[in-house]
Parts: sequence; C-alpha cells; structure tokens
Amino acid sequence: MERKKLIAGNWKMNGLITDAQARINKLHNLIKNSHSKVDVLVCPPFTLLTTVKELCHNTNIMLGAQDCHFNESGAHTGDVSPIMLKDLSCKYVILGHSERRVDHNESNALVQKKVTAALKHGLIPILCIGESKEEKEKKVTLKVLQKQLAESLPKNAKNFVIAYEPIWAIGTSVTPTLEEIENTHQEIRNYLTTLIGNQANNIQILYGGSLKPSNAKEILALKNVDGGLIGGASLIAEDFFTIIASN
Ligand code: PGA
Repeated sequence: MERKKLIAGNWKMNGLITDAQARINKLHNLIKNSHSKVDVLVCPPFTLLTTVKELCHNTNIMLGAQDCHFNESGAHTGDVSPIMLKDLSCKYVILGHSERRVDHNESNALVQKKVTAALKHGLIPILCIGESKEEKEKKVTLKVLQKQLAESLPKNAKNFVIAYEPIWAIGTSVTPTLEEIENTHQEIRNYLTTLIGNQANNIQILYGGSLKPSNAKEILALKNVDGGLIGGASLIAEDFFTIIASN
C-alpha cells in the first residue's frame, strides 16, 4: 500500500505577521521550483491563520491549526472551535501534542472529545502520541502508546493522522535510532489494525522530534514513516524545504 507522505510544520508559539510573510513566500518559491510530490502543511498559531491562509492561496501549501475546543461555540474564553478553523479553510488540526498535555493538563479523554469534534466538522486530526524519557527507560513505551491510542481515538474514526513524537526527542536534537523508529511505527500500525482493522494500512503515521535536514532523508525513507511533524526546523523556510525535498 502506497501512502502519500505528509510534511507538517508545527510553528508552536512562534512568529509575527512579518515572519509568516517572509517564511511562506520563501517556502512557496522553493516548492514551486521543485519536483516534490509530498503534501505540505503548515500549522501556525491562531493569530497567524488568516495571514497564512491568504499567503497560501493558489499554492500547494495546506493550512492547519495547533489545537481546537470540542464545542462548536459558547462560553469558553480563549478557546477556538473546529467550525472556526473550518471557516478559515484549515484542513488539519494537531491534537494532543505533549506540550498541551503538559501545559494545559490535557487527558486522553479530553483529546478524544477534540478528535471527535474535529472529525465531525471535516477537519483531519493529527493525533500526537509519545512516551517520556522515564517511560522509555522503564521499557513501557508500547504500553503507553497503546493506551494513548485506545483512549484518544473515537470508536469509528477513519480519516486521521498519527504523529509519533517521543517527548524526550522534542526540541532536544536527540532522536531514537532508525531501527527504533521503524519498529515503533510498525507497532503503532499493528495496534491500529486491532482498533480499526485493515483501514490502518491507509493511516499516515508521522515521526516528530528533532527531525532536521541532517536526518530527514534516512528517517523519512523508513517503510512505516509516512512523513514528519516538524517544530524547530519548520521555522526556517530553507530547512523546512530541505526536509520536503529529501523525499
Ligand atoms: P521539534 O518539535 O521538531 O522542534 O523537535 C516537534 C514537535 O513538537 O512537533
């Protein structure tokens, strides 16, 4: 089964309007002169969604957000709903990122409600899962990932993306070995098969955590790695493009 690769940039809480303009214009110029066949997505902070939507008009760069509430509207100060994201032409939404699980105490149960709401409103959730350093050392990675998948995915989910992001690899310049990444991705796919059957073969499983121009080619070439979720390196247009072009 040939799965298309998805290269997604997670800008996190970075960037002002002028940064977004420079970054997207540069990225678009690089992409349009290349033969890259991968899907490219950028997920800026909420404040930049309108700007980036306009900048990406008539380009091959897709737009996504970094979180959403599970309700459509209402008394939720500071939150943004899935229909608001849809209104801005967002196609994807990152959910359950480890930084949100820590900073905002997000549980699997809450993430599941958000995934359900995103799917209901036609957004493709990028569900993030990953183990901590302690969990890796205790050799319970697989158990942790299976629990996150079982508790964060709604029963009948079909059209979603998984991002495997070992927490200890995020922003640290440290990554698992290639063998570890491939094995973990295979285990994730095996477990998805027990949850959703053969449809698991169509699900893109992205790797995230210190994915950079220097390691992208070998990581993205792994059989069960269907793209990447890139933080730091997505803030530099040339670096992000090098990752896109390494496929
Ligand atoms: P990083 O972040 O590429 O800076 O390690 C990845 C992420 O958190 O999505």
